[in-house]
Amino acid sequence: NTSPRIRQVMASLIRHVHDFARENEITVDEWMEGVKLLNWAGQMSDEKRNEGQLVCDVLGLESLVDEITFTLADEAKDAPTATAILGPFFRADTPYRQNGADIAVTKPKEGGEMVFMHGSVIDFKTKQPLAGADVEVWQASTNGLYEQQDPDQAEHNLRGKFKTDDEGRYYFYCLRPTPYPIPNDGPSGKLLTLMDRHPFRPAHIHILATKEGYRPLTTQIFDRQDKYLDNDSVFAVKESLIVDFVPRKEDPNASLELQYDVKLVAD
Ligand code: DHB
Ligand code: FE
Repeated sequence: NTSPRIRQVMASLIRHVHDFARENEITVDEWMEGVKLLNWAGQMSDEKRNEGQLVCDVLGLESLVDEITFTLADEAKDAPTATAILGPFFRADTPYRQNGADIAVTKPKEGGEMVFMHGSVIDFKTKQPLAGADVEVWQASTNGLYEQQDPDQAEHNLRGKFKTDDEGRYYFYCLRPTPYPIPNDGPSGKLLTLMDRHPFRPAHIHILATKEGYRPLTTQIFDRQDKYLDNDSVFAVKESLIVDFVPRKEDPNASLELQYDVKLVAD
């Protein structure tokens, strides 16, 4: 009792995989290299290391699926906030923090400019602010590591979930994101090397915004100053997701500011 969808997708997968093998005259040895890489990815994966997803990402698959799933125009000015891939470092158990909190609980040993990030969650159609929406954010530290990759960071460092206030606003302190290589010591790193590609991702902050009655938004925002915007190793950059950090005056806690509104689409 397989579903029509499974039938269609599996038949297509098998057809394309066979075509791929025929077209390239894949040998037993070459196929075995692929099997080894898949097994290696599985073996090194656990709750801290999502290597299967990383392999998909360097092949551009997660970004393609994101584009297929969310077809809303993202380049038009008056469009809802564009989506971007979730990536392998999301944690489902990120704690709520109060608006105004500093998510950089463990300060970086080196570098690290503080940013006051703030904005509203709004209904894309009506332009009304949405109170009680959840804005969840996560970012890597200046050493290029997310908290779960780095024993020197407090648990949930550089992560937080914020509820918008009565005016639909959220606000918190974070780091200016910095570019870094995706984990390069496993099969995805090996694939990148084989393809003569670098492992860097442009500086970004992940956002997951949710509100009952609205389509959940998974996205990332990127620093306009970054040099990897045009060649992200996992193909996630979209023009409308590029933002400008501006100087902030008279705030002892941050030298930069980022105003960013999230525009959600009603279900
Ligand atoms: C990937 C995504 C990220 O956001 C990141 O920080 C590292 C890797 C990825 O898509 O593989
Ligand atoms: Fe990331």
